[in-house]
Amino acid sequence: MCGIFGYVGSREDAGSLVIKGLKKLEYRGYDSWGVAVQTNAHIEVSKDVGRISGVDHEQFKHSSGLAIAHSRWATHGGVTKQNAHPHLSEDGKIAVVHNGIIENYLELKKMLQKKGHTFKSETDTEVIPHLIQDLKKDGMTLEDAVRAACQMFTGRYGILVLDTETHALVAARTGSPLIVGVGEGEYFIASDIPAFLEQTRIVNYLDDGEMVCLESNKAIFRSIETGKEIQKRKIEIAWKVEDTEKGEYEHYMLKEIMDQKESIIRAVHQDEEQIMTLAKAIKDCVGCILSACGTAGKACMAADYFFSIIAKRHVNFVPSSEFKIYHHFLLPESLIVVVSQSGETADVLEAMKTAKEAGSKVLAIVNVEGSSVARAADYTLLINAGPERAVASTKALTGQMAVLMLIAYAVAGKLNEGRMALLEAGAKINDMLNPRYIDHIKGIAEVLHHHKDMYIIGKSWNYPMALESAIKIQEVSYIHAQGFAAGELKHGPIALIEEGTPCIALMGNDEVTADMLSNIMELKARGATIIAVSPERHEIFDHWIKVPDAGPAQPIVNIIPIQILSYYLAVLKGKDPDMPRNLAKSVTVK
Ligand code: G6P
Repeated sequence: MCGIFGYVGSREDAGSLVIKGLKKLEYRGYDSWGVAVQTNAHIEVSKDVGRISGVDHEQFKHSSGLAIAHSRWATHGGVTKQNAHPHLSEDGKIAVVHNGIIENYLELKKMLQKKGHTFKSETDTEVIPHLIQDLKKDGMTLEDAVRAACQMFTGRYGILVLDTETHALVAARTGSPLIVGVGEGEYFIASDIPAFLEQTRIVNYLDDGEMVCLESNKAIFRSIETGKEIQKRKIEIAWKVEDTEKGEYEHYMLKEIMDQKESIIRAVHQDEEQIMTLAKAIKDCVGCILSACGTAGKACMAADYFFSIIAKRHVNFVPSSEFKIYHHFLLPESLIVVVSQSGETADVLEAMKTAKEAGSKVLAIVNVEGSSVARAADYTLLINAGPERAVASTKALTGQMAVLMLIAYAVAGKLNEGRMALLEAGAKINDMLNPRYIDHIKGIAEVLHHHKDMYIIGKSWNYPMALESAIKIQEVSYIHAQGFAAGELKHGPIALIEEGTPCIALMGNDEVTADMLSNIMELKARGATIIAVSPERHEIFDHWIKVPDAGPAQPIVNIIPIQILSYYLAVLKGKDPDMPRNLAKSVTVK
C-alpha cells in the first residue's frame, strides 16, 4: 500500500520521471497522489485526490534532478488534497513521503506543537518532516536527523525524505519495502521495482532497520540503530519491462488471467533437489502450518486437501492475521510455510516473526524475488508467475497451488507423477483459454451482472475455491458473493435462496461428485439458477462452464473461469477491475 518513488541524479526532468514511474505503482494505492520537486532552493509540491494515471507528467518538467512522489492508500485522515503526500516541514525545506503507520504520531505532534510547529493535515506522516527539521536545528546532518527521528517512531514505515539544503534523498525502512535502483550517476528509490525498470535492473534492497543516503554519485547504507555503514550487494532483476505492461489487453486482470496459459507450467519447473529438501523438511517436522492472507490463503486451504489426499499428511492453514495466537504451541521442530504473491504483506511478515521467535523454521513460497518474505525465510521457492499488477490476484494463486501440489506429491514420494499431472493441467488450461470460451463466460456474466447476491459451493479441494470465487466476485464487481462448503448449505445459508438466486457449483470428476449433485438438487428445489463449472454436463445445470478433467489439479483449473466471470461482471457493471475501491495490492499495514 502506498507507492513511493524518488530520484536523484543528473537528469533535469526528475519531476516528470517520478510521476511516470509512480504510475507503474498505482496498484499500491490510488486515492490521491503528490509530487515534490526541488527547483533552485525551493520545493514545489503538487498534489490532488484521485488517480495518478490521469495526470500529465509533462507538466512536471521543471529543471531539477531531485524529486519524490507518492500515491496514497489512506490510513490516517480522509482522502483529501491536504492529507495527500508529500508533507512539508514548518520551514518548507524538507518534504516527506511515507508508507506505513507511525503509531506514536499524536505524542510527537503534541511535542512539536508545543515548540510552535503547525500542522496542515490529519496524517501521521506530517510529524516526520517537522520532527526532522526540529532535530536538524540542533546542528544534526540530514542523515543523523532522519536516524534520530526513526529511533523515536513506533510502528512500521518506509519513508523518503527530500531536503533542499543537502540536495540528497534519505530513506529509512522498518516494515515497508524500499528498493534502490542503481543507475550511472543517478539513483532511484521506490516501493517496488516496476517504477524504475525502464531505467535500471540493478538494485540494492533496503532491509528492515536500515537507511540510505542517496546523492547522484553515492549511496551510503547504515543501520538505523547503530549508524554503522552497511555494504550492500547489487542484484540484477530478471523481470523485463514488457512483463509489467498490459500489452494488447484492456486491463491487467484479463492479461494476468490469460498469462495462466504459461505461468502454471513455469511454476512447475522447480529445482528437483530443492523440492526434495523441502519435502523432507515437511516429513521431518513436528507440525506443519501454512499461513497467508487473502487469495494466497485460499491456495493454502487447497493445500490442506492436497497434502491430505495426495501425501496422506496433516497440514494446517492459519490466516496470517490470526497466526500470533498459535505461538503457544510452536516448537523449534515446527515448520511454517508462508505463501505470498508480493512477499511484502505485513501480516505474513508478522507471522514469520512469531515463528522465528519460537525457533521454528520458515519456508516461503513467493512470486517476488528479493521481497521481504523471501529474504527473511529459511527456504524460498519462487512461483515464477511474472509481475502481477491487478489488485485481484489470479495467476499468482494458480502458481501457488501448483507449487504446493508439487510439494505434496514430493512428500508422497511421487514427484514425477505430480509434475506430469500439473504439466498436463497446464496444457489443458492453454487449450481452454480460447476466444470462444471467454465469450461463453462473458455471455453468462451478461445474464448475471444485475444480480445483487451470488452463492458459490464446492466440496473437498473445490471448497477453498468456492471461498476464493466469492473474493474474486466481491472485490472487482462489488456484487455480494459468499462461498460455502456444499454440505454446509442446509445448515443455514439455504434460507437465503430464492427463485432465480445465482448459485455457482465448482465440481470435478471425483469421489464427491455424487454429493455435489445432491447439494445442487437441494438448491434447485428452492428455485436457484445453477451455474456449474464441471468437466461433465448434468441436466440440472442452467448454465454449464466446461472445464477439463484435471484430477488433483481440478481446483487450479476450476478457479480460472470464475476469474474470467468476475472480470466481466466488473466490466459490465462499469467498474475498473484493476483498481477496485478501498483495496490495494500489497497490504503493508496490519
Ligand atoms: C491483498 C490483495 C490480495 C492478496 C492479499 C495477500 O489483499 O488484494 O489479492 O491475495 O493481499 O497478498 P500477498 O501479496 O501476500 O499474496
